[in-house]
Amino acid sequence: MNTSVHERESADGPRPGRIVLAEEDIRRRIGELGAEITRDYAHDPPLLVGVLKGAFVVMADIAREIRLPVTFDFMAVSSYGGATHSSGVVRILKDLDIGLEGRSVLVVEDVVDSGLTLHYLLRNLQMRSPRSLEVCAFLVKESRQRVDLPIRYTGFEIPPDFVVGYGLDFDGRFRNLPHLAVLDGI
Ligand code: IMP
Ligand code: MG
Repeated sequence: MNTSVHERESADGPRPGRIVLAEEDIRRRIGELGAEITRDYAHDPPLLVGVLKGAFVVMADIAREIRLPVTFDFMAVSSYGGATHSSGVVRILKDLDIGLEGRSVLVVEDVVDSGLTLHYLLRNLQMRSPRSLEVCAFLVKESRQRVDLPIRYTGFEIPPDFVVGYGLDFDGRFRNLPHLAVLDGI
């Protein structure tokens, strides 16, 4: 009998474990955030800036809960360092397509851990003279931030475990899980 690489990986390797947030919890909270953003930006529909790759899932869901003519852009960043720790050295892999001058910008992030990635990003975006610059973070890890960050909208505060699903990956995998789970087997 042959055991494929995939089967072996899912049996002993890093894999999704205990569920931290069920699909239904996420849906409810995203709905609340969407309603809040709709109220706050009623007279000033924002440009949503998604931080790839992780934010593509929350971006798609929250955008459809914002009942305003929002526009979209994306940027891709990568933190140097190991797969489960941020080093604070951020590389822009893909920059925005449009300028931010005079725009109301709402950055959509998947997870804030040390906060170093977001800190770098906000400093970078602020230099482009947006009219306003706010952050919506799906997840914020408790007691982990090494910098002060102005996060206007937070989905969930979670314990500092490494988690996967709903856009978050380990080594490129598990982003398409509809719920959030801790990563087991590392
Ligand atoms: P920070 O710079 O330490 O805040 O880390 C932010 C980045 O690290 C995120 O944008 C993710 O790409 C990654 N990250 C941090 N924690 C997790 C996690 O629990 N699962 C998956 N990726 C994570
Ligand atoms: Mg990542």
